Amino acid sequence: MTTYPKTEALMRRGTEFLGCEAAILCGAMSWVSERNLVSAISNAGGFGVIACGAMTPDLLDAEIAATKALTDRPFGVNLITMHPDLFDLIAVCEKHAVTHVVLAGGIPPKGSVEAIKGGANPAKVICFAPTLALAKKLLRSGADALVIEGMEAGGHIGPVSTSVLAQEMLPELSQEHVVFVAGGIGRGQAIAGYLEMGAAGVQLGTRFACASESIAHPDFKKAFFRASARDAIASVQVDPRLPVIPVRALKNRGTEEFTVKQREIAGTLDRGEIAMAEAQLQVEHYWAGALRRAVIDGDVENGSLMAGQSVGMVKSEEPVADIIAQLMNECEEALTRRKA
Ligand SMILES: Cc1cc2nc3c(=O)[nH]c(=O)nc-3n(C[C@H](O)[C@H](O)[C@H](O)COP(=O)(O)O)c2cc1C
Repeated sequence: MTTYPKTEALMRRGTEFLGCEAAILCGAMSWVSERNLVSAISNAGGFGVIACGAMTPDLLDAEIAATKALTDRPFGVNLITMHPDLFDLIAVCEKHAVTHVVLAGGIPPKGSVEAIKGGANPAKVICFAPTLALAKKLLRSGADALVIEGMEAGGHIGPVSTSVLAQEMLPELSQEHVVFVAGGIGRGQAIAGYLEMGAAGVQLGTRFACASESIAHPDFKKAFFRASARDAIASVQVDPRLPVIPVRALKNRGTEEFTVKQREIAGTLDRGEIAMAEAQLQVEHYWAGALRRAVIDGDVENGSLMAGQSVGMVKSEEPVADIIAQLMNECEEALTRRKA
């Protein structure tokens, strides 16, 4: 890639950190980010990340091996910090000499960052930073790079938008640290903006979920092509006693019934028919297996169609290489216009 000199110059810290040509990560998406999409992203010059999700260590072992068979370029593995076998999963990454481990889902448990960075095949650690204070804490605890992700993103989200997080965090952190910006990025012009603010690169999920190389069910992809930004809504908590971790997904029958279900559960609580812990568990378990139902089985009515607000910019199935080339072209054009 030599046709993007301005973009490459601004992405240099990111590409050197990741070991790829374009500092564009495809964020891990459970069920979607498996061997095919991950290898396609890395082969196209970006940086693919396997979504471990709830996989067992044996399944992750097989997935990494299969991905390595499809690409000789670097890729990452995303591990959820509350996975009960987190340290075994880290050992699997070490066995395969995975170069980058992304820790998602909260503050990494004690010893996990050290385990990833130690051992025979030390990997770089990338963490999600929800606030500036936590960002500094994560960097002190050994994180090598950060992702700041705004609430426009698909999947589990925080309360603050990408543009505000970027303004709060990049000026403080980006001089000395590698920071990637995620959430709501659909075009290269937005990438140009975040690079100019100091980001070392960006992470996208929604734009890549329906790439030709993605194994997502054709009906899942069709739902994305039809949707506009306003269809990608954050899940709503109905009762203060029953916590809901916000997830951004396309509205469908499942999201409507989730609201009804929460009211029903709150009613049983009011009437003293179940204990608080049981009620909270019922809410938590409502979406169990729902992403798989949508992505793999194509159940777009009852499954979880996790998608970010940039879904309105996803109009057709395109090869990963075309999406990356389009993003890089748009970014370069935007930077060129400004310099002129
Ligand atoms: C279908 C889907 C599944 C996702 N699953 C995960 C996941 O398992 N782990 C994770 O850390 N992030 C997950 N994400 C978030 C993405 O990795 C990425 O950070 C996000 O999509 C970026 O924002 P964007 O959707 O606006 O591009 C998911 C996103 C989507 C759309």
